[in-house]
Amino acid sequence: MRIILIGPPGAGKGTQCQRLVEHLRVPHLSTGEMLRAAVRSATPEGVQASKYMEQGQLVPDELIVGMVTKRLEAPDCRKGYLLDGFPRTLPQAATLDELLERRAMSVDGVIELAVPRDELIRRMLARKRADDNPEIFSKRIASFEIQTAPLLDYYGRQGKLASIDGLGTADEIFERVQTALRRFARAAGRR
Ligand code: AP5
Ligand code: MG
Repeated sequence: MRIILIGPPGAGKGTQCQRLVEHLRVPHLSTGEMLRAAVRSATPEGVQASKYMEQGQLVPDELIVGMVTKRLEAPDCRKGYLLDGFPRTLPQAATLDELLERRAMSVDGVIELAVPRDELIRRMLARKRADDNPEIFSKRIASFEIQTAPLLDYYGRQGKLASIDGLGTADEIFERVQTALRRFARAAGRR
């Protein structure tokens, strides 16, 4: 299955993907993790991306699309994948759709993890990533609201969106995620 997880920073995308990897046996592709690895290795992409990440801004679409396109060609992606943090803009979503259409494929479903801002801030304060400080975190939330939230409409119109309450224990949320997956599987069977 090809599944996308969408949610604001700290919504639990990475946490749920760790559980989903065991369940679906497909790779977990987190563009944030890929970028952090590129920054650590100081590749040209990493050097370019770090300027944006440090400011809580999205990195340019061209850089992300190049990175993801290459990754999706790897043999382990043939049976599907979990996309965590990609697409994050309408142009990224359109590019992914075109890329899949060329291979007669499509996204099976999109899971939105909805979490209120005060809980996101509580989670961020309990963690210590380089981009987890109150000022940068507010900018990351703003990037989500302005650039990424429109994707919910985009996938909603395609009938592919499942919006899930992201409050509760990680296990409770995983139950909701599994319910969404069953719905996606039924819809795929009808297509
Ligand atoms: P990215 O790494 O994707 O960060 P993010 O979207 O800000 O999300 P986080 O990883 O912080 O949160 P998450 O939803 O994965 O939650 P998690 O499971 O960790 O992106 C980083 C940067 O890279 C971006 O700002 C941008 O610059 C760049 N970038 C990445 N992709 C891009 C793209 N496509 N285009 C352009 N730029 C891009 O959980 C958070 C915390 O909460 C953890 O401590 C966890 O233990 C805890 N937690 C999880 N679930 C629960 C729960 N149910 N209850 C209590 N605590 C919980
Ligand atoms: Mg994450």
